[in-house]
Amino acid sequence: MELTLNGLTVVAEPCDGQSLLELLRDDFGLRSPKDGCAPEGSCGACTVLVDGHAVVSCAQKATRVEGKSVVTQEGLDEESRRLWAESFVAAGASQCGFCSPGVVMKAEALLRKNAAPTRAEIAHALLGNLCRCTGYAKIVDAVERAAAARRGKRARAPSR
Ligand code: FES
Ligand code: FES
Repeated sequence: MELTLNGLTVVAEPCDGQSLLELLRDDFGLRSPKDGCAPEGSCGACTVLVDGHAVVSCAQKATRVEGKSVVTQEGLDEESRRLWAESFVAAGASQCGFCSPGVVMKAEALLRKNAAPTRAEIAHALLGNLCRCTGYAKIVDAVERAAAARRGKRARAPSR
């Protein structure tokens, strides 16, 4: 089957029952989507974009993305990746970093729909993304910073 993966048309041959997460990591060597709970679909660490929607890739059969566009964190443009990295560092939103790529992809989907989300909207969008390290407030700070930077504004000081 064909799909668009990070902007390139690729051919994939998923085996029976293979998840999208397995296809991305094992067949295409993309390591940003993480396996935190596969196949439960409950931690958000494996989140990627499918046709612009945030999807937990461990709970999606690989065959379902035939003809679709899949984007992992590796597929974001350089400017976006730099902005996310700077926002997470500035807010102290990444400690072990395991959850971060999934959070970034979920937040990326949010900001594409809503350039100026409230903190409550950010927190709501990230409800399905678990983080064992940060206590979540700093992640919301980071997304707020990234959104503000995209709009050309300075974000408020991060939470302590
Ligand atoms: S690994 Fe997919 S939701 Fe946890
Ligand atoms: S930074 Fe460690 S799980 Fe989120």
